Amino acid sequence: MSDFLRQVPREGHGGTGTGAITPDGCAVEVYTRLPAGDEPDVIASAVPAGAALLELGCGAGRVTHPLLDRGFAVTAVDESPRMLEHVRGARTVCSPIETLELDERFDAVLLPSFLVHASDVRVRDALLHACRRHVADDGCVLVQREGEDWHTRVPRERRAGDGLVRIAAADPTDDPRVSAVRCEYVFPDGTWTQTFLSRRLDRTEFEEVLAGAGLAVDTYLTGDRTWVRALPVR
Ligand SMILES: C[S@@+](CC[C@H](N)C(=O)[O-])C[C@H]1O[C@@H](n2cnc3c(N)ncnc32)[C@H](O)[C@@H]1O
Repeated sequence: MSDFLRQVPREGHGGTGTGAITPDGCAVEVYTRLPAGDEPDVIASAVPAGAALLELGCGAGRVTHPLLDRGFAVTAVDESPRMLEHVRGARTVCSPIETLELDERFDAVLLPSFLVHASDVRVRDALLHACRRHVADDGCVLVQREGEDWHTRVPRERRAGDGLVRIAAADPTDDPRVSAVRCEYVFPDGTWTQTFLSRRLDRTEFEEVLAGAGLAVDTYLTGDRTWVRALPVR
């Protein structure tokens, strides 16, 4: 890999396996393989048809591409140029979310992939403030949060395409609200791992941190309350 594409891991994050690994420990190859599942439908059901979407942490376009197919205009942001190389048909922006300053507002801002569980509360709050400053006054922010028993229901696994995604561990750390999570992606031709730190956010905490960023929960979009629509508070 050329030096300018080599990135420093975020604290507490790491990954193993062939190919590029993002600063938060994701294997690019894995994200080109994982299916989109029902996430594009959840998003499409929560925003106006044809909306202009800002997708934060888009990865390799797993969800971006089905959203484009459904007629949305997507601006796709990721700090990993190696992920963005796989995104087709969307405007792409290579940037940390925390410092993103686009000169426009969007009908909907997406903060998927449980990024709101960043262990460093300064990072978490910066992610939410980035959502707030890019959403139109009459727009919405969709946040994907963890299921409420995810730090204790371990190990667990699910099939994803021809692979298996296994949460192998969620170990305690010095901070009682933060777990060290180890995720394994097992495919017929290879295995990748990601380790990361995740801060628990129960429903009350979640709603409080959103409020701190000028966002108010409008509705929980899924029965497990993992997808949430929030509205900007004036
Ligand atoms: C778990 S992957 C998920 C990608 C995509 N959302 C999906 O569901 O397929 C997380 C992605 O977010 C990006 N990411 C994580 N934290 C970020 C940050 N603070 N700023 C920009 N990108 C970030 C990573 O580079 C990675 O591509």
